[in-house]
Amino acid sequence: MKQTILSGIQPSGILTLGNYLGALRNWVAIQNDYDCKYFIADLHSITVTQDPKTLHENIKKTVMQYLACGLDPDKNTIFIQSHVHEHAELGWILNNSTYMGEMERMTQFKDKSAKQKKDSVRVGLFDYPVLMAADILLYDADLVPVGEDQRQHLEITRTIARRFNSQYGDIFKIPEGYISEAGARIMSLQDPSKKMSKSDSNPNAYISLLDAKDVIIKKFKKAVTDSENVVRYSSEQPGVQNLINIYSCITGKTATEVEKEFEGAGYGTFKVTVGEAVADTLAMIQAKYEELNSPENEDFLKDVYAKGAERARLLATPKLRQVYEAVGFIV
Ligand code: TRP
Repeated sequence: MKQTILSGIQPSGILTLGNYLGALRNWVAIQNDYDCKYFIADLHSITVTQDPKTLHENIKKTVMQYLACGLDPDKNTIFIQSHVHEHAELGWILNNSTYMGEMERMTQFKDKSAKQKKDSVRVGLFDYPVLMAADILLYDADLVPVGEDQRQHLEITRTIARRFNSQYGDIFKIPEGYISEAGARIMSLQDPSKKMSKSDSNPNAYISLLDAKDVIIKKFKKAVTDSENVVRYSSEQPGVQNLINIYSCITGKTATEVEKEFEGAGYGTFKVTVGEAVADTLAMIQAKYEELNSPENEDFLKDVYAKGAERARLLATPKLRQVYEAVGFIV
């Protein structure tokens, strides 16, 4: 039997080059080897302010982007988190196997809440990792591909699962992280110490999957580098290192090969070459996206996420029932 892989992305905007090179591209590469479940984490996205209309559109757009990047809806279970109400229900149960102290140590919560006014930080933002644990444990996922920023959440998922199991019996599988060889951590083009994020307040910090070629090139030209003017793969040149990573990911060239290719060339040439390579790759995704984003395809899309939710429920419903029974509820 194939192992189960599960992951999700929040529909908090158009996906970025970081989502593509760090996640989606690898999801596509493994779609024949695992039983994969990928969802749109809409429940998670409202832990920070969302405009309802924009959120609604972004959820649909995220489904289309999953498909445009090459995820095959026949091979993968693609669904919208809120369509499977078991996620929220299991989240509630798991709140009672989680301690305040351990949640207070979550660095993402500390970072995100520090950026907001103290009296408007939502309980949902604090509770976010427990819902994430529910997402994962509901499907007995073996492997969870997550970036560095989500490692701590995966760790707490394992803690919650073990604690629940020791109180109620062997109900949950303990998931592992999945690190793919090709995976890359793409950083902000404006601050290479931060991850590239679709919710960055500066649009020059990220490349959106749907950016036009001229916009992409412009953003790369503005990318923060340093004053060395040497294309060298070194942690002392984090901006350049990030650009090399991006270029390596797209072309398959090693960092050393990239250094050679741009020996003697200035940052100007380097940045434009990287920008063009990215634009060419994204052009294929954009063409597919445009095709999906037409009124004739609306029913097809609905069918994709409806079937996905149906398939997800086949596992989620009996799992939640098992949990309810274990806890002592009348089912
Ligand atoms: N928290 C993840 C992120 O922001 C998204 C997510 C929600 C997720 N539930 C998940 C990822 C379950 C993996 C598994 O990137």
